Order: sequence, then C-alpha cells, then structure tokens
Amino acid sequence: MTATKGLEGIVATTSSISSIIDGVLTYRGINIDELAENATFEEVAYLLWYGKLPNRSELNGLIQQLSEYAQLPNEVLEQIKLFPKDVNSMAALRTAVSSLALYDPEAGDMSPEANLRKAIKLQARLTTIVAAFARIREGKEPIAPKANVSIAENFLYMLTGQNPDKVAIEALDKALVLHADHELNASTFAARVTVATLSDIYSGVTSAIGALKGPLHGGANEAVMAMLEEIGTLDNVESYINNKLANKEKIMGFGHRVYKNGDPRAKHLQKMSRELSNLTGNMNWYNMSVKIEELVTGQKGLKPNVDFYSASVYTSLKIPRDLFTPIFAISRVSGWTAHILEQYENNRLIRPRAEYTGPANQPYVPIEQR
Ligand code: ACO
Repeated sequence: MTATKGLEGIVATTSSISSIIDGVLTYRGINIDELAENATFEEVAYLLWYGKLPNRSELNGLIQQLSEYAQLPNEVLEQIKLFPKDVNSMAALRTAVSSLALYDPEAGDMSPEANLRKAIKLQARLTTIVAAFARIREGKEPIAPKANVSIAENFLYMLTGQNPDKVAIEALDKALVLHADHELNASTFAARVTVATLSDIYSGVTSAIGALKGPLHGGANEAVMAMLEEIGTLDNVESYINNKLANKEKIMGFGHRVYKNGDPRAKHLQKMSRELSNLTGNMNWYNMSVKIEELVTGQKGLKPNVDFYSASVYTSLKIPRDLFTPIFAISRVSGWTAHILEQYENNRLIRPRAEYTGPANQPYVPIEQR
C-alpha cells in the first residue's frame, strides 16, 4: 500500500453536481462564466439542490422558503451573545451552526424531504448567524432578516441596518454564485466523509465549516487582505513579494490543486474588483493586487485563485476582513448540502487506508521498566 499525499489525483466519488474538466468549471453542466454573468445566487442554489434551473414560480417559492427559515432560534441568538467578542469568526460560525441542530426538531429525521428542508434552513440561517455575530460582537443588537429579498441583500441589510445599494447587492450576489460549489474540494469532502457514516446534515456542515476555515482553503481570502494591509502601498509590493518568494514562503491567493492554468472564477472577481475600486475611488488594493499577480505569475508561474481578488472585492463593499471566510461559507453551504443529499442518495461509508510508516514488531514494555 502506497499513500498518495494529499489524495492528489484520487477520484473518490462520482457526482453530478459540479465538474472541473480541462480547467472549465460547471455547475450541473452549465459553465460558471454563463452563471456568473446571468444567474442569481438563489437560482444557483436551486440548481445545485434540484439539478435544474428553477422557473419563476419555483424560484419565488425558494426565496419565500428561505425567508421563512431565516430567523434564528432565540436560544442560538442568546448563545452568540455569550461568545467572547474577539473570537475567530469562523469558530463562532462553526459553533452556532452546530447548536442549530439542538433546536431543530427534525435534526435526526433522515427522510429525503426533511434533509432537503434542512439544507434550505441551513442556507437561510448561516446568513443570519454571520450578520448577527458581526453586530453582537460590536455591542449592537442583531437585525431581524427581511422577507422575500435575496441572500445578498439580506446579509448586507442585517450587517449594517441600512438598505444596501444595487451595486453592492449585485456584486455580493455574483461573488456568492462564484463560490457556491467546487467539485470535491476539502470542505465538501469533509462534509461527505461525515455524512457517509449516516450522521446528520448539521454534523456534515459543521465539519465542512471547520475544513473551510484553514488558510490553505477558504481562510486564504482573509489572509490575502492581511497581506495587502501589511504591504500597505504599491511601492512596497515588489520588495515584499520578492522577499517572500526568496524565502520560499507561500503567497496567499495563488496556486490550486486542480487548476494549473488559472482558476476560471478569478477573472470575474478581478473585473469586479476593478469596477468596485473605481466606484469607491480607492484603487490602491486593486493596483497592488495586479502588481502582485504580475510578480507571482512572472516568477513562479502561479495564477490567482478564487480567493485572491475576493479580498479587494469585499473590502470595497466595506465588509470587515474577518467576515470574508464566513461569506464563503454562506455561499458554499449550498454546495455542501447538495453534496450531502447526493451522498445520502447512494451512500457507502468512506474509509480509506493508511500506509504504515511506524516501527514493526515492538514489544510491550511494562510501565516500571520504561
Ligand atoms: N505561493 C508560493 N508558492 C506556491 C504557492 C503559493 N501560493 N502555491 C504553491 N506553491 C508552490 C509550493 O511551494 C510547491 O513548490 P515546490 O514544489 O518547490 O515545493 C509547489 O508550488 C506545489 O505546491 P503545493 O503546496 O504542493 O500544492 P498543493 O496542490 O498541495 O496546494 C494550494 C494547493 C493549497 C492551494 C497551494 O497552492 C497554496 O497553499 N496556496 C496558497 C493558499 C491559497 O490560496 N489557498 C486557497 C486555494 S482556493 C480555495 O481553497 C478556495
């Protein structure tokens, strides 16, 4: 038995949800470029869960269902109020999502109908949790969700208490579309491994949030912004990047396990970053990002991934840096739950093997003789 480090190139399941073939990403066979230009996030979530685009009444039905579920159980809101104010926002999200299960009477109902309802509940409630946590830690009251508006609009509204402008809603909506699913990425795999034991959907999503949190996965978008802030100005970019590369340090937001010729989502986020920076009148983060890309691609051949330009997009939308990864989760929970439903439909325990590299034939030494 020989291990494949990081399971690179291992095909661990079949799936009909999203594909990456020759560098092209599709959701249910539809090219991400078409979805990014035309679809709303709710249409995409419907597509991932039901396997087809919704008609007008199906879409309205989903938006209404999301509205009905968006309010958090009071007990969960009260728990969030007890969290330390300076806690990591992904840790807060992970804990709050886990406790949602305690107040859902159908948490243990494994029927396909109940699991689909819970997927929609999780989608609605993750959005409310992130906004509520962001306000509560600042000593503000959480804002109740609005009915019958998009996830993007509701999130910005619940975060700020103000009606967001159309440009901000559209930009966030597009970012959510771009992050919704991505084949067997680390967090989706974590979700599938968890539910393949026939554990419940809340356990699967909690596992996924834990996996997304790390800086090699979803946590990279925050790390990119931290790097931009550390560099500070365009003039400092060259020496900073050259120094990092000379020390063989990783530049966050670059590289990908699957894409070697560029991440198809990155160009959309770059365009959004340029347009939003233009509108806000602050081109600094965008210009620095372009310069970093020139240097990293020029010297290492590494291309930006989905996280790189997300950082300047969210900053232009005045979203605090440590909410970037939770926003990724707000989008990706659509994909996680679609994968969980797919796993349940045709389940088999996921249990690979390990190549043993420890010593052999060791005697048991009694404790007095050690
Ligand atoms: N900066 C500098 N060098 C890099 C980078 C980077 N961002 N990414 C890869 N490399 C180098 C590695 O040092 C390694 O070089 P070596 O062969 O000389 O040792 C080589 O490229 C291969 O890199 P691995 O880390 O083995 O590639 P792997 O497929 O395991 O990792 C990953 C992919 C985790 C995305 C990696 O590129 C990385 O750490 N990037 C930075 C973090 C990041 O942006 N993560 C978000 C990914 S997208 C997402 O999850 C949403």
